[in-house]
Amino acid sequence: MILCSSMMCIDYDNLKDEVISLDEAGIDIFHCDVMDGNFVSNLSMGLNDIKCIRKNTSRKVDVHLMMNNPSNIIDTIINLGVDIIYIHPESERKLLRTIEKIKDRNVGVGLAINPETSVESILEVLYYVDYLLIMTVNPGFAGQKFIKHTLNKILKLIELKENFDYQIIIDGACSLEVINDLSSKGVDGFVLGTSALFGKMQKYEDILMDIRKKK
Ligand code: DX5
Ligand code: ZN
Repeated sequence: MILCSSMMCIDYDNLKDEVISLDEAGIDIFHCDVMDGNFVSNLSMGLNDIKCIRKNTSRKVDVHLMMNNPSNIIDTIINLGVDIIYIHPESERKLLRTIEKIKDRNVGVGLAINPETSVESILEVLYYVDYLLIMTVNPGFAGQKFIKHTLNKILKLIELKENFDYQIIIDGACSLEVINDLSSKGVDGFVLGTSALFGKMQKYEDILMDIRKKK
């Protein structure tokens, strides 16, 4: 099970310490949400935040680009040394070209799909992606409610997995209950934010151990 920490949810007074604690707790991927205030009505992490994370861990770092025309910034993000980049089909007109641009630089590529985006609309692109980030909330904000209708789409994409090479990561309101249910159905990983990891009384390593144990 791939566990990703939603870095927009951490205590920014202690960014470096948070990265080190999460690294030592055994998080698999540091998930960096980057927003343009346009594609989503929020701003969140910036290049310097990603630089600090990259400097303080050798674990994987991913960047979830919630912005219009992400192709404009792909090289800048790749030059930070990240391992995976997620782009939205809803925000990129040159989708396949941008996916290939990421792959050509030997960086993992993921498609992040909004709750309203259908499986049918992305079918042709599934041949090219390493990860599918399925949004189970409207992108842009932490602390939202899980959108139930996305379950049908998740099950469809689990079924399709054997014909392609992607891994499925769920992003949004991933509570322990959601994680147990969907991991037993074949989902590969989860973005952990305020629903499961941050703002809790337990230590990060205890929370991660509990999540992994339940699998
Ligand atoms: C949503 C973000 C998340 C996530 C945060 O745009 O990508 O990282 O929702 O986790 P929760 O939903 O558990 O607060
Ligand atoms: Zn995200």
